[in-house]
Amino acid sequence: MRAVDIIIKKRDGGELTEAEINFFVRGFTDGKIPDYQVSAWAMTILLNGMSALETKELTLAMAHSGAMLDLSDTVDIAVDKHSSGGVGDKTTLAVLPIVAACGLPCGKMSGRGLGFSGGTLDKLESIPGYRVNLSTAEFKTQLREIGIVLTGQSLDLAPADGKLYALRDVTGTVDSIPLIASSIMSKKLAAGAHAMVLDVKAGNGAFMQTVAAARQLAEAMTAIGELAGRKVVALIADMNQPLGAAVGNALEVVEAVQALRGTGPADFMEHCLHLSAHMLVLGKRAPNLEQGREMAQQAIRDGSAFEKFCQLVRAQGGDVSFIEHLEKLPAAEMVETVCASQTGYVAQVHARLIGEAAVALGAGRAQKTDQVDHAVGFVIHKKVGDAVFAGEPICAIHARNQAQLEAARQAVLAAFAFSPTRVEPLPLFY
Ligand code: URA
Repeated sequence: MRAVDIIIKKRDGGELTEAEINFFVRGFTDGKIPDYQVSAWAMTILLNGMSALETKELTLAMAHSGAMLDLSDTVDIAVDKHSSGGVGDKTTLAVLPIVAACGLPCGKMSGRGLGFSGGTLDKLESIPGYRVNLSTAEFKTQLREIGIVLTGQSLDLAPADGKLYALRDVTGTVDSIPLIASSIMSKKLAAGAHAMVLDVKAGNGAFMQTVAAARQLAEAMTAIGELAGRKVVALIADMNQPLGAAVGNALEVVEAVQALRGTGPADFMEHCLHLSAHMLVLGKRAPNLEQGREMAQQAIRDGSAFEKFCQLVRAQGGDVSFIEHLEKLPAAEMVETVCASQTGYVAQVHARLIGEAAVALGAGRAQKTDQVDHAVGFVIHKKVGDAVFAGEPICAIHARNQAQLEAARQAVLAAFAFSPTRVEPLPLFY
């Protein structure tokens, strides 16, 4: 087989066989197929798409390109969750402890921020000492002993995806549903998931800008899951405005802890309860969503969900006093409130503009090697549909200096829009 023939076949609209896909993925993982051929191949997929069968074969080939974590000796059923990325999405920090406190052991490998969307690992590293580089042996031991792990993706899982993703990032081939679906699902399969809840975001602060595109991605991922014999539930969640109130690493840890104590913002609490209920049903801990939700609420009420988060932080070397006393977390020197310019209703809190402004404050990276600033970000006081009076606070900016503060204020003013007439709140899920 020759790489060029496979590229030509795909270019001309042909359907690739399992053998051709395996040959190509093995070739670029081993470095035998050069980057320029891999890039050309990715572009043929972006332009011509892939059938459900091809997408499944690509996913399996990438999943099997490195080690496959087998959790069947550790848990009875490994239930994972995945968010396709957004602004203010700290769901994992709350949902994992909730479901673990309900008796569903949950070990998850998360990522760092990507562009304007935040990453769970960056948020966790706001807690001094917290380790995100557990070995496979540590992962399994901790999952068996305390039923919760939250760490980074180990390098030996799905290396083909790592290589392909890096090339896609710089060759204009990120926005392809088969490539995104296989990228996400290959990592989930390699990480040993038997079942998973996919939190697919739709809106201006997400990869998928429309509900229709998010639905296509959700369908592609559930089809892969079914063909690979896994149980998959996909939810389509709004990402036109940030989730909850906090955007920024330590600020989001604070909000996650508030949610675990039952005092988080209503939309974020609701989002977490819904996801937890789905995970508890998939993991056979709850017979239906209503009871799953009730179990999750009970774990928040009785303090066991917060206690589980403390156990997690302690087990991974973090200083638990920082989540028991949230004022110890990194905090910015300057906090300034932006107020509404007019009386009426909030018509827009543009998630992408807020996400980009958070990166500009230092909460994310402009370049791969940048250090993130854990202290900076935003706390949004008003969401779409809320009534406001002129002069009422709509957002707090947490910044390091006056120049940052001024740029962030301009971004907030651009992100918010008001209407003199009533505006419907945005749905949480579509
Ligand atoms: N997240 C991933 O892991 N892969 C993609 O291709 C896009 C988002």
